[in-house]
Amino acid sequence: MAEVIIVPDATEGGRVAAGLIAALVQANPRAVLGLATGSTPLTTWEALEPLALDLTEVAAFALDEYIGLPVGHPESYRSVITREVVERLGMTPELVHVPSYDGDPETAGEKYEAAIRAAGGVDLQILGIGRTGHIGFNEPGSSLASLTRVKALTRMTREDNARFFPSIDDVPVHCITQGLGTILRARRLVLLAFGSSKASALAKSVEGPVSSGHPGSVIQLHPDVVVIADEAAASELEHAEYYRFAWENHFNVG
Ligand code: PGA
Repeated sequence: MAEVIIVPDATEGGRVAAGLIAALVQANPRAVLGLATGSTPLTTWEALEPLALDLTEVAAFALDEYIGLPVGHPESYRSVITREVVERLGMTPELVHVPSYDGDPETAGEKYEAAIRAAGGVDLQILGIGRTGHIGFNEPGSSLASLTRVKALTRMTREDNARFFPSIDDVPVHCITQGLGTILRARRLVLLAFGSSKASALAKSVEGPVSSGHPGSVIQLHPDVVVIADEAAASELEHAEYYRFAWENHFNVG
């Protein structure tokens, strides 16, 4: 079962997630992180900054990237990761990877998979969740065994991400994303969910049937998952009371 930690707000959630990352990096200065974009992980990066960890030897792999934005576009996930994570936390740019489409849908994903393998695999993968239930950009219908590949985004995801663009028509239709099978290979998953708009998707991920119809539910197949949710995002969890009790009486999540 996932360790579900219910926190008062996103700021506290970011602190808890940052604590997990800090413990990992202190034990292994050459750890490999899995990075997520979007609004959700921002409080985690904010909480990491004052810890002033030495992350210069830490490698990282982002979950996904849009296809079709010009190189250097401020909303490309390469730019977002550079701005929000690499520069802010003093990571080494050469060690931070973001998938990119090289013009060949057959090989683009394989190259990214090979790079993750060459780095020894991801130790701790940060995940957000979309209203469609996506993790990474694995929209409903994604194979539970999928690897990095090109996908089309749903209308709902493009609407949600339109806030970063002049209009929805400017949100790319295609992306390259780690697959659900790729995500499952990470040694630990840390899924963050903040706000009432995530409540339904979170409940289905943690407690619903495991199904490609709700990609986030694949986390139930992983042996080491930490879910960090604020009260609003946790509001539809049937067993919230038990999760609180279990967390208050936890043995060890570090
Ligand atoms: P958000 O996106 O963090 O901006 O809400 C999450 C996601 O789409 O995975």
